[in-house]
Amino acid sequence: MSILITNIKQLLQVHDYNVTILKGDEMKTLPFIENAYVYVEHDTIIEYGEMKDYNHIDAETVIDATGKIVLPSWCDSHTHIVYAGDRTSEFVDRINGLSYADIANNGGGILNSAKLLQNTSEDDLYNQSIKRLNELIKMGTGAVEIKTGYGLTVEAELKMLRVIKRIKQESLAKITPTLLAAHAIPENYKSKKEDYIKLITEELIPEAAKLNIAHYIDVFCEEGYFSIEDTEAILKAGQQYNMRPKIHVNQFNILGGIALGVKHNALSVDHLEELNTDDIKALQGSDTIPVALPGCSYFLSIPYTPARQLIDAGLPLAIATDYNPGSAPSGNMNFVVSAACVKLRMTPEEAINAATINGAYAMGISNMYGSITRGKKANLIITKPLNHYSEIPYAFAHNPVEQVVINGQLL
Ligand code: NIG
Ligand code: FE
Repeated sequence: MSILITNIKQLLQVHDYNVTILKGDEMKTLPFIENAYVYVEHDTIIEYGEMKDYNHIDAETVIDATGKIVLPSWCDSHTHIVYAGDRTSEFVDRINGLSYADIANNGGGILNSAKLLQNTSEDDLYNQSIKRLNELIKMGTGAVEIKTGYGLTVEAELKMLRVIKRIKQESLAKITPTLLAAHAIPENYKSKKEDYIKLITEELIPEAAKLNIAHYIDVFCEEGYFSIEDTEAILKAGQQYNMRPKIHVNQFNILGGIALGVKHNALSVDHLEELNTDDIKALQGSDTIPVALPGCSYFLSIPYTPARQLIDAGLPLAIATDYNPGSAPSGNMNFVVSAACVKLRMTPEEAINAATINGAYAMGISNMYGSITRGKKANLIITKPLNHYSEIPYAFAHNPVEQVVINGQLL
């Protein structure tokens, strides 16, 4: 299996092997080669350069990319794509005036999705989820983090993990699983939250660890969900099984979850629609990357993550879809890149960096994904003919993707 792509107008995100994250001003630059070629063998990027330096290579598939841009596939570091059914009725309720919190307090929201998932067979759940993933792949996504969190019982959370494992085995996309048993407090634990936390720390995490799938632990640290103390107990329990924290913080309220995440060496802290200067200080000098989810802000009409404050403070930033049935029912990274420019005031360079190399960092895979680098995995987007890469975010809601190479295979 070998693929040669020639006459590429712009080959984006070309980096040395040692580049695994871009911080602050580094995000302003998007290194690219004009009039380029790239050569892929099996699942690996082998060679690339300028057409003028190109010496004939025999490849099984040759693609003439005249007028087109080639870039690494999107790395979507925050999704909940394993879910059952949908929440369109809550969408209509919100249009008619109810808030996300009103709906959750009436037993809707995450608990609604949990009830649906508990009553869905493992095969059905797999089929619904792989269909979503296949749509994302066509839109240029090559790596996807997938969380549990719509099970909320030991049995249903393990069912989700097995579905994620099957997706990981059967899809060409790179999948990283995260355990999010602490997504909401189940109805039958409303008056005894401590018991649910015990169930997570003493039963669910050890059982999940036996499956050896999830290497990350997540908590929805938020008023009405899990407090700082709850979050810390769950992170500590996960860490005993080598699950690194990746947490939902600062979506609606600032509880101190960012500092807590940093204290526990979280790989990422996600959402951050609310943010203060202590949060920024906590992140400085850490290995924790903040992740913005503009699709969630768009869909819930809540503030957008103040990306400028984060980047201008010298911090890295990743962007992801948060694809889920309640707060972001879209997994289109092209839209997220555009929204990052329009709503987060990120430049096209910053947004593309945030959706590729930094997204890969937020999934713990940027040594193998997220850039055009010899030896890295061949996950590539070949765009339609474009004048410049800035057209990707500029033509919002258009699909810039013409073809994709995923794990070295042309789709
Ligand atoms: O990231 N904030 C918590 N979890 C999801 C929403 C889940 C839902 O509404 O189903 C999020 O926005
Ligand atoms: Fe989320």
